[in-house]
Amino acid sequence: MLRHFLIDTDLTPEEQTRVLDLALALKADRFSRRPLAGPQTVGVVFDKTSTRTRVSFATGVSDLGGSPLIINPGESQLGHKESVADSARVFSRMLAAVVWRTYAQSGLEEMAEHSTVPVVNALSDDYHPCQILADLLTLREHLGDLPGRTLAYVGDAANNMANSYLLGCATAGMHVRVAGPQQHLPRQVVVDAARERAEQTGGSVLVTTDPAEALRGADAVVTDTWVSMGQEDEKAERTRIFQPYAVTREAMALAGEEAVFLHCLPAYRGFEVEAEVIDGPASLVWDEAENRLHAQKALLTFLLDSSGLSADLPAALRREEIR
Ligand code: CP
Ligand code: NVA
Repeated sequence: MLRHFLIDTDLTPEEQTRVLDLALALKADRFSRRPLAGPQTVGVVFDKTSTRTRVSFATGVSDLGGSPLIINPGESQLGHKESVADSARVFSRMLAAVVWRTYAQSGLEEMAEHSTVPVVNALSDDYHPCQILADLLTLREHLGDLPGRTLAYVGDAANNMANSYLLGCATAGMHVRVAGPQQHLPRQVVVDAARERAEQTGGSVLVTTDPAEALRGADAVVTDTWVSMGQEDEKAERTRIFQPYAVTREAMALAGEEAVFLHCLPAYRGFEVEAEVIDGPASLVWDEAENRLHAQKALLTFLLDSSGLSADLPAALRREEIR
């Protein structure tokens, strides 16, 4: 069956664990899988700028035996001169998978609807599920088993990272707490979906305007920029309103001595996080950035395997109508 990864819940709890297990295996033995042997091409399309996503997918696709085709903002017809559906049909004739960073989640859904190869969300306005896989991998390496662990996200609780932490951490069986100002809390539909997942996995979900309530006793403290891509015009107002949610040394002290710190990056020191925290001993942000590579290689391998499209699986496990 053709598999996509558009939102964190596209992986079941069991599948998420399998992907993280595979990521650890690929990290230990970097070239042990070649599902893209050929080399087959993976399109990595950007409507917004990127450093980590671009570098990690380019490197990861090469590691898996394939060849990345990076399409930077403004370089293709997609979305302005040509419909998403028509672009998906063309991509499917030549590419082994499509990785897309864009604005509207609905664009990704439309791409997947018309694609015959896996489509991966490399960040939308609503979700950043690849980042959460990397974060979970980092926490597994540093904290051990994820179920029962508590992650506290403070800051813009309505952005793509907050949404994906809610869904991805609930899938992992974690207790996920998000705190932000009243007018920047996650939409109810996202909270409900996270709660539904948490009921299956033994995790839990807390949404609050009180940063201390989220932080107290947390195993991991995370934040993100207060001004996401596309929100630059709101910078002054956002900088003011999110101030009480900054991750300072005092905020980390509320979580406890053992708490670790994550940030998807890019980070703005002196705004959402104090330099002493992100550059201090609790910070895992460089491991987290590296883990984008390993997590996404595992994800692509899982999607290609499950879709019957991996070149390094026996013929019986491959889909017949492969290009
Ligand atoms: N964390 C992340 O997605 O970084 P980039 O925007 O640099 O890809
Ligand atoms: N919330 C941020 C994440 C960047 C990786 C943004 O969308 O700009």
